[in-house]
Amino acid sequence: MTFRQRYTGLIERYRDRLPVHDDTRIISLGEGNTPLIRLHNIPELTGRDVDIYVKYEGLNPTGSFKDRGMTMAVTKAMEDGSQAIICASTGNTSASAAAYAARAGITAFVLIPDGKIAQGKLAQAMMEGAVVIQIKGNFDDGMRLVKEVAQTAPVTIVNSINPYRLQGQKTAAFEIVEELGRAPDYHCLPVGNAGNITAHWIGYSEYACKDGDHVTDACTFCKGHCRFAGGPSVGQRPKMVGYQASGSAPFLRGKIVDDPETVATAIRIGHPQSWDQAWTVNKESGGWFDECTDEEILAAQKLLAEKEGVFCEPASATSLAGAMRDIKSGKIAENSTVVCTLTGHGLKDPDTAIAQSTAPVVKIEANLEQVKKAILDNLA
Ligand code: F0G
Repeated sequence: MTFRQRYTGLIERYRDRLPVHDDTRIISLGEGNTPLIRLHNIPELTGRDVDIYVKYEGLNPTGSFKDRGMTMAVTKAMEDGSQAIICASTGNTSASAAAYAARAGITAFVLIPDGKIAQGKLAQAMMEGAVVIQIKGNFDDGMRLVKEVAQTAPVTIVNSINPYRLQGQKTAAFEIVEELGRAPDYHCLPVGNAGNITAHWIGYSEYACKDGDHVTDACTFCKGHCRFAGGPSVGQRPKMVGYQASGSAPFLRGKIVDDPETVATAIRIGHPQSWDQAWTVNKESGGWFDECTDEEILAAQKLLAEKEGVFCEPASATSLAGAMRDIKSGKIAENSTVVCTLTGHGLKDPDTAIAQSTAPVVKIEANLEQVKKAILDNLA
């Protein structure tokens, strides 16, 4: 039987815009093609007339946007004959690296901060057969060690300093433009290493690129793979808005942060790897950086789940928390279209979710009377 419409991942879908060859063996788990969900109940809470969409990247195969970059990074590592990959991670990159390495039949080494990654992510890396190396340090320590060890050990780094990662991740912007028929006015993202905000800017810029006349320095990464090089162009690009957790906000402090802290462990990063690129994005797009407190982040995570039925991990909710504040204040203009990336699934971090939930859990005897009473007592 043949399946004419079968979706087989983002490299196949965007093959002409990615650095792969006809005979490249593609390592894919069907990543990408995630839902762009229009929020129905939250926009009115801002008191402003705006369209808010969330790009639910938690629905990628390993539950985060990392899969977009990992399919490219592992595909290219295999093409180059690599036997092993390595990364430092706050959790999601390690889960994704482990999965794609398993799929490719190579080894993944993952360095994670001891005790500071969410349980779901640890479970994934362990089940997917990665060599899990817990370090008594944070992500930034892990990243430094990975860079050092890769100078001599036969391993390919698959953190976002690997340029193929950003190439894969830029496809999220392609999907958004294709679905909306244009680029949004604002694109809001949580920022850690700032790889993802950089990748989105590359994607939007390639869509806006006229006749191969790259509209941004970032676009030159594409090395001629621009979607519309020599063709039509959507012209417009969004303002890119990056939100950080207050305890881990080097872009707000204007310098690296040595002891980052936040409940949003995914973005507990003080030395962003894409520092210069992110400032370029900021300048070129006319966007800005801002910070959210842990309380604001958790409140947005809960609001999204309660009001829209969309469950994301804490770090992901940073984009919505910041966007709502900036919409209310008018910094994000009325009548605009806003996309917030939800970078990871809520099930990644069940402990934080349960700890902050105030939902009543009704305990009763197993009889009809008590079930009826529980329903009547709790009808809205
Ligand atoms: N959101 C989530 C859920 C993440 O896991 C990350 C990064 C980010 C946002 C920030 O993206 O670094 O491109 O600015 N997680 C990495 C990891 C660091 O190891 O999983 P960024």
